[in-house]
Amino acid sequence: MQNTASFYELVNYPLDRYHLNLNEVLFHNANGYIGIRYDFEEGYPEEYNFTPSQYINGFYDYAILPQAEKLYGLADEKQSILNIANTQTIKISWAGEYFSMFSGTLLESKLSLDMERGLTLRQVKWRSESGKEIALRVTRMTSFHQLPLFTIEYEVEPLNFSAPLVIESIHDGAVLNYVNPADPRIADECIQYLTPVSCEIKDGASYITSRTSSSGLELCTCVKNQLFNEHQQEFIVNNDEAVCKYEIKAQAGKKIRLVKYAVFCDSIRYPNCKQQAELEIKQALSMPLEYLYQKQTDYLSAFWHNCMVEIQGDIALNNAIHFNLYQLIQSVGKDPYSNIAPKGLSGDGYEGHYFWDSEMFIHPFFTITNPSISRALIQYRYATLDMARENARIMGHKKGALYPWRTIMGRESSGFFPAGSAQYHINGDVAYSIIAYYLVTKDIAFIAQAGAEIIWETARLWLDVGNFHKGQFHINGVTGPDEYTCIVNNNYYTNVLAQYHLNWAVKFYYLLESSQCLRELEAKIQIELWEIKEFQQAAENMYLPYDQNLKINPQDDSFLQKKVWDLDSIPKDNFPLLLYYHPLHLYRHQICKQADTVMAHFILEDAQSEETMLNSFKYYDKITTHDSSLSPCVYSIMAARLGMEDLAFNYFKTTARLDLDNMHKNTPDGIHTANMGGSYMAIVYGFGGFRLKEKGISFAPIIPQPWTAYSFKICFEDSRILVHVNKQQCIFTLECGSEKNILVYGKEYLLNDQLLIPESLMNERNLQ
Ligand code: BGC
Repeated sequence: MQNTASFYELVNYPLDRYHLNLNEVLFHNANGYIGIRYDFEEGYPEEYNFTPSQYINGFYDYAILPQAEKLYGLADEKQSILNIANTQTIKISWAGEYFSMFSGTLLESKLSLDMERGLTLRQVKWRSESGKEIALRVTRMTSFHQLPLFTIEYEVEPLNFSAPLVIESIHDGAVLNYVNPADPRIADECIQYLTPVSCEIKDGASYITSRTSSSGLELCTCVKNQLFNEHQQEFIVNNDEAVCKYEIKAQAGKKIRLVKYAVFCDSIRYPNCKQQAELEIKQALSMPLEYLYQKQTDYLSAFWHNCMVEIQGDIALNNAIHFNLYQLIQSVGKDPYSNIAPKGLSGDGYEGHYFWDSEMFIHPFFTITNPSISRALIQYRYATLDMARENARIMGHKKGALYPWRTIMGRESSGFFPAGSAQYHINGDVAYSIIAYYLVTKDIAFIAQAGAEIIWETARLWLDVGNFHKGQFHINGVTGPDEYTCIVNNNYYTNVLAQYHLNWAVKFYYLLESSQCLRELEAKIQIELWEIKEFQQAAENMYLPYDQNLKINPQDDSFLQKKVWDLDSIPKDNFPLLLYYHPLHLYRHQICKQADTVMAHFILEDAQSEETMLNSFKYYDKITTHDSSLSPCVYSIMAARLGMEDLAFNYFKTTARLDLDNMHKNTPDGIHTANMGGSYMAIVYGFGGFRLKEKGISFAPIIPQPWTAYSFKICFEDSRILVHVNKQQCIFTLECGSEKNILVYGKEYLLNDQLLIPESLMNERNLQ
């Protein structure tokens, strides 16, 4: 099969370290709970120094976070996602000769990712040094149906020989995390986080239980092998490893089939993880593998049904967007113990921490396609609200809650506070995602149960961190999204988002006014009308920096006073700047790592005039390096919004294939999930001109010149709408649910079946 939207394949791919590392990520399997990088079962030559890696979302340990000068309140412990027991390894040999892609002759090799079936497939034809040929077919799955389960279906066929063949299926508890001291985005020291405490065989399965060194967590992995050919079997067990060894009389032309079931159960989710592992393995074995494959397909077919995006006229971009959406459903946590990390479950870059990436770049996709996933992500924030309260106290705030800039279990894990803990906008980001969830679902019961408490507790922080000055509300000493400009006064993004947040804190109060829940929350967090009035007053008087001469929103109070640094004068090899310049050097220049004010204009476009947004875009476009992968998608959306279609398309191209083409050269450390969510937004919010507001949903589609058509779907309230845009018309189809009023190019229509908007109107794009 050729590469298609739901199938990605590499044929006879290179076997150098660079490509192997990249493919470990591009072909990893994950289901939001476990993630397994694609390591060859038979291993690599020793000099490659590969670390087979697999993770559980939210499963972490602490390490000491050394602060040279231990100032009050700085985080002194960091959390790290852990590499967990390796269940991937399977070795085959005959007469002392081992199969390895790195010896003998590789006759054929193929690596495929099937995004409809949720499987990866490796096919190999290989000749050993002594001329023995085998065909190998390996199918891997992390089950969406049974989250702790990872399966490897391993089929080997001797093509031209018959001989006693040995299969060693390994379950290894002695694992370490990957480190790279040269890159601040990755952990720099090798620590043994997990220590195996028992390794035993029970009912033909191996169980390894391991404990973390500081976080008090436990993990049990169980591996059960099933071999479907006549064989002899023995276990070789030591403290941290179990090898299940088979001897088979292999015959030329006869396939040998092994299925390796592995389950991973951690003590965060399960009170007794060993017992749970026993149950899980039993459950997995009680169903034929084909049934599990079918369940996987069913799960994904429901996912694609709600979110399918199609681009006609550009196969490479169409394939890329499918790949990106698939990675999002693979990466996203769906329980209150986890969220979605910048690298998903494909690598330990950023140590598995959760950032604002989730709320501002990934929620938008799920909120309008599979809102129950956004709800689960909000539940995670709710589950960690107490720690956000504690964090606020550490930072000197007497009440309210401040979410940590980066965390796994809820406590702040930022090593460098100017570009970390100082990003108070995280509170606004969390609130923004809850408001969006409400606008789509109108799920007021959830707001009553969790959303309002988060919104009010986080809104309280604005009143404490900000203050009135000459009648206006100022927020000083914070960092906005742009991490090349730190600790500033009145960051436009922060202030305008705080204003929106405070306004909704007031709205939710009145929406819940007569409910029992308000009474309970009044008692629980002492929220009262006088405080709501304070929220309102701060919002009404929020200071939003504006420069009369340039007619733009300055990024903050001092931004325009700084030296401009001509981007073209910087050597190409010095990007990303964070790896080559001292932070203070960056802070003293007008240089942006990523969209900041332009991002604010995207998410809250009604706060400014067209003229201000256009001028600002042009101003910041010249000084933004896009060193963060979170940036080009936002520029694409705003370029489309402001009528610069070619520029929008160019930016889109750099986001859509960022991982597939390893454009940032760091995909081996993991995929870029925020950018993936951003590439979706660039189609739906950018070209589709979709907006979600209190007054409803609106569209203002344009079509990039190289495309013949594109389509996407939106779930809104009880309905699902299919939007198809081609050069002649836009067609809106109500796929299910009740009729809806929608705005298209600023005009209201009732959508009760199908609505056709002709080309003449498309040319007058007019966003409201
Ligand atoms: C960006 C942040 C982002 C983080 C994780 C940093 O490079 O500047 O905005 O949250 O990466 O993706």
